[in-house]
This record gives sequence, structure tokens and C-alpha cells, in this order.
Amino acid sequence: MNEIRKPILDVLNKRVPERVPFWLMRQAGRYLPEYRELRNQAGSFLNLVYDPEKASEVTMQPIRRFGMDGAILFSDILVVPDALGQKVVFEAGEGPKLEALTSEADFRELDLDRIERHLAPVFETIQRTREKLRSENFGSTALIGFCGSPWTVACYMVEGSGSRDFAKTKNWARENPESFQKLINIVTAASCLYLTQQINAGVEAVQLFESHSGLLEGEEFERWIIAPTHKIGEYLKDFHADIPVIGFPRLAGMNVLDYALETLVDCVGLDQNADLAWAAKELSSHVALQGNLDPELLLAGGPALDAGLEKIYAALKGKPFILNLGHGVIKETPVEHVQRLANVVRGWAV
Ligand code: CP3
Repeated sequence: MNEIRKPILDVLNKRVPERVPFWLMRQAGRYLPEYRELRNQAGSFLNLVYDPEKASEVTMQPIRRFGMDGAILFSDILVVPDALGQKVVFEAGEGPKLEALTSEADFRELDLDRIERHLAPVFETIQRTREKLRSENFGSTALIGFCGSPWTVACYMVEGSGSRDFAKTKNWARENPESFQKLINIVTAASCLYLTQQINAGVEAVQLFESHSGLLEGEEFERWIIAPTHKIGEYLKDFHADIPVIGFPRLAGMNVLDYALETLVDCVGLDQNADLAWAAKELSSHVALQGNLDPELLLAGGPALDAGLEKIYAALKGKPFILNLGHGVIKETPVEHVQRLANVVRGWAV
């Protein structure tokens, strides 16, 4: 019997897929009533993340409704600081809160030896999800693991929460690059360990979320974004050469080109500001592309959604590409709009 092909893995391995694959960042989340129900049962966001049965259900929820070609592991980028020993809480409606790091002395609290034990429930979620994908006949859906890229994770570790400009982090990196480098090195090492265990548990591709790459330019982009990402890429290529890596340098503008050329990623995720004609011309001979529907168009639905999808298809048709959003699904998005997106993309010829 022929093995079922997974279109996402075809694109990431530079083979022609049988259809244009799609998945959506934050496809498992609050726009789904069945997510909100499990989230309420779990009590807190981290309880949900660290409960392998519930977390694998959440991972499966959008697949059962819409049949995406990629199932993104249900977890969060901030489980890495949590596992290292930095206190992380998610308060309802408020976003994450961490006990902010204020100086190099605080790094003593961060312990790389805790990563594998603390994150064991996540690895079990991966095993359970692979089993559910198999037993529920989603044979063409690939399971995608992820972590935050070191700069983005460090932003939360230093700031203690989300922030508009992440000024404390930028100041630390500028005023004391030696100590900031130590923090980046710890997060980079933790990410390599974490992704390796995700791969051992069964993820078939990984995505590195660099949500805050728009904060840096020039040498700083090179040092804090490209160099650590390259280290992770090199580590993964050494030990797991068959696992493709997607990098998502959100809001990086033209810096995406250096990112694509210098980090060893196989695919670049584009945000909604990216110029697709430019990306098709400059990037697509080097890396596969993923993106970049504006989440607000998915929220809007109707002709705006259809036109947004058509524009992406016109620009990237025939290139190796995965349809996704430019950022995560907005929580008010009607599920019917996601269904519409799935129907439209399913109708696209490769
Ligand atoms: O469906 C998926 O994409 C898989 C799971 C996933 C989550 N977060 C679940 C989540 C993934 C891949 C992430 C990545 C993530 N987490 C990023 C990178 C992508 C991006 O959004 O830029 C970042 C920066 C975080 C950190 C984070 N987690 C923040 C800032 C917040 C609060 C803001 C918000 O959207 O609520 C979260 C919470 C979070 N992570 C939720 C979910 C489903 C909502 C929590 C809830 O249910 O209350």
C-alpha cells in the first residue's frame, strides 16, 4: 500500500504537493466553542497545556472541523521560561505574567536540567496527537511542533509581560550585550533540547516563532535574531536532518531576506505586511514560503476574505507555498469564515 503523502512535508522538502496545503497560526484557540469549554474545565491556561489528554484534544479540534494539512501542537512559547524555573502565569483576559529577570544574577535561577522533566507532558501530548491523527484517519495531516525563538522568548523573560516596545529588553541588549548574550545562550540551548524531545516524541516539522523581530535592525538583527536561529537550525540539521524547520520572523520587513539566507530554515513564514511579489522573486528560490492572509480579513469574511485569498494565490501559485495567516486567528473570528477559507484553498490547483 502506498503511504499517504503529507502535502506540507512535500512543500517543505521541495517536492510538488498534490494540493496547496494550509494550516492557521492559533487554529487551536478561543474562536472555537469546544476550545473554550476545555479551557474552562482546565481552570487555567497552563493546566490545559500540561494535561496531555486535553491538550491533544485541543490540537485535534480544528483538524476535525476543517481538516487542515498541519496540526500545530497545543502549547505556548512561554513554557520554556516556565520549565527553566521562571515563574509564569496566564491571568484570564490579561495575557502572560512572568517574574521579570532584572540582572545576570537572576540567571542562576534558570536550570536547563529541568527542561526535559518539566515538559514531559508536552511530549506525551505529541504522542497522543500522533495516535489520534492516525486512528481518526487524518493521514495527510502533519504534526507541527514549535518554540519561540530566543530573542522573542527573552523579550518576555526580561519584560515580565507583553509590551508595546520591549524597551527594557532592547536597553539590556545594548547596554550589557555580554550578559544579554548569556541569556540568549540559555534560551537557545533550552530550545534545542526542547525541540529535540518534541521530534523524538513525533512532531514532523517545527516552527520557530520570532514574533518580535520587528524590534531590531542591522547588526542587532544579525546578533540577536539570525545568529541564535542559525544555531538552532544547525543543531537540528546535525541531529534531525529530516525534520524541516519553518521560521516566522514577524514584522522583519526586508530583513526577511537575510533571515532566509542565513538561518538554515527550510521555509519562511510571512506576516501580512510582506510584499508577495518581492517574496516570490527574492525568497522562493531559497526557501518555501508560508503565509500571509491578514487575520482581519478572516475576521471580516465575505468578499474581503475571498479577495485576500485570491491575491495570495495569484502571487504564489506554482511556487512551493503553504497557505497560512500573517499572524494568529483573532478570537472573535466566526468559525464559518475558517470553513470558507478551507473550502477555497481546497479548490486551488497546484
Ligand atoms: O493554535 C496554535 O497556534 C497553537 C498554540 C499556540 C498558542 N500560543 C496558544 C495560546 C502557539 C503556537 C502560541 C505561540 C505564542 N505564544 C506566541 C507566538 C505567536 C504570536 O502570537 O506572536 C507568543 C508571542 C505567545 C505568548 C502568548 N501566549 C501571549 C502573548 C498570550 C496572550 C495573548 C493572547 O492571545 O491571549 C498567550 C496566550 C495563548 N497562547 C492563548 C492560546 C490559545 C490564549 C489563552 C487563553 O485561552 O486564555
